[in-house]
Amino acid sequence: MGVRLCDLGHDVTLGSRDADRARSVREELIDRWPDHDLQRLRAGDNAAAAECDIVVVATPWDGAAPTVAALAEQLDGKILICMANALTRVGKEFQPLIPPRGSVAGDVAAAAPGAKVVAAFHHVPARELGDLDGDVECDVLVCGDDDAAKQTVIALAGQIPGMGAFDAGRLTAAGPIESLTAVLIGMNVRHKAHLSVRLSGMPGSPGVGSR
Ligand SMILES: NC(=O)c1ccc[n+]([C@@H]2O[C@H](COP(=O)([O-])OP(=O)(O)OC[C@H]3O[C@@H](n4cnc5c(N)ncnc54)[C@H](OP(=O)(O)O)[C@@H]3O)[C@@H](O)[C@H]2O)c1
Repeated sequence: MGVRLCDLGHDVTLGSRDADRARSVREELIDRWPDHDLQRLRAGDNAAAAECDIVVVATPWDGAAPTVAALAEQLDGKILICMANALTRVGKEFQPLIPPRGSVAGDVAAAAPGAKVVAAFHHVPARELGDLDGDVECDVLVCGDDDAAKQTVIALAGQIPGMGAFDAGRLTAAGPIESLTAVLIGMNVRHKAHLSVRLSGMPGSPGVGSR
């Protein structure tokens, strides 16, 4: 996500629990994409990333709320995008988990009550997102309780070539959206596929975005 947004011209700070790890990931990304201008890519600890105007939490599900709680004051008033999915593998099956507040995004919102939490990008395959020479052929369902924040995230997603973005309602929609990820991952394993989501039937619009 960071390298894709940077490639689109945004200033991006990669965050980590260990700033040196973030710095080495930054170097790897810059080496991997010599033909792309990634000078706007920075790296630091999670507090440095939380300095940005829009913050993305993309940790495993059980790390999301604790990560955000530690930075709650810094996140006051900011747009906080949660793309985490709670799931577990049981044998060959992937099962969705329901966190205490119904979704990872709900837990994140409770952990950072001053942030404008928007849940999005749950089903976007990291491989396609990180391939700067390719489009990202999928749609994202965007939900949240702050309309302006949600529209900002929809517009951001729409800048990614190939991606469409749809307003999926309030943050209560995050639970079923996150749960669908377990179904998609299970189908990917079963069919040896790389599935993503495309929506049809929206009146008057193919979805906000560049597809
Ligand atoms: N991979 C995908 O295609 C994809 C697509 C859409 C959404 N997602 C969601 O995005 C989230 C991250 O997915 P991922 O594949 O990037 O997972 P990941 O590689 O396992 O985790 C991402 C980063 O989170 C940090 N982290 C790990 N455990 C943590 C903890 N307990 N507390 C705080 N930070 C922790 C680690 O960074 P540091 O060690 O550097 O801190 C790690 O590099 C998941 O919730 C996933 O469901 C993934």
